[in-house]
Amino acid sequence: MKVARILISAEEIQAKLAEMGEAITRDYQGTDLLMIGILKGAFVVLADLARHVRLPVETDFMAVSSYHGGTHSSGLVRILKDLDQEIEGRNVLIVEDIIDTGHTLKYLLRTLAVRKPATLSLASLLIKDDVERPHFDIQYEGFHIPNEFVIGYGLDYDEKYRNLPYIGVMDTDSTTSPTDVQDGFKLAD
Ligand code: IMP
Ligand code: MG
Repeated sequence: MKVARILISAEEIQAKLAEMGEAITRDYQGTDLLMIGILKGAFVVLADLARHVRLPVETDFMAVSSYHGGTHSSGLVRILKDLDQEIEGRNVLIVEDIIDTGHTLKYLLRTLAVRKPATLSLASLLIKDDVERPHFDIQYEGFHIPNEFVIGYGLDYDEKYRNLPYIGVMDTDSTTSPTDVQDGFKLAD
């Protein structure tokens, strides 16, 4: 596998998550917080972000599939795995790896709001810029990145590379000469 370049290093990710975790700790002091990771991508972010939150949080997961047709997401989302618990009256924080078209989140926010949580907020490690998306507030933002396909730190290409410790831009240019390309896992050393 070839990585064109490292966009965000493992150290930069941890520093950002520490900041986000501090803000979450401050904001949810004295309340009970349920952090919900959106599978599969967010399993890595949730694991690290939760450990930067100095509160006895609960965690849960949801899995959804979005149907992408052509260059635009259709906006159709299906729940593959629902939450294990009720969220009525709870302080809920959705944790995402990346917001691209925003269709997945728009659907999730609407679906979860119906269940009447006390509060419903959103944290995302990555937000793609220059993408037209429906408006919703993102209370805890990680990095704004260009509209390129990225892998690593939970993000996959064809279900692989979620275990890269950094966020990389995948080399999709088959004309790149072999001396220019690097093995993505060696880059992690
Ligand atoms: P959205 O509904 O378009 O915002 O899609 C969000 C989902 O698409 C994410 O949770 C990812 O699974 C996937 N996705 C979007 N952009 C990328 C990318 O650059 N690399 C890998 N997965 C991506
Ligand atoms: Mg994916």
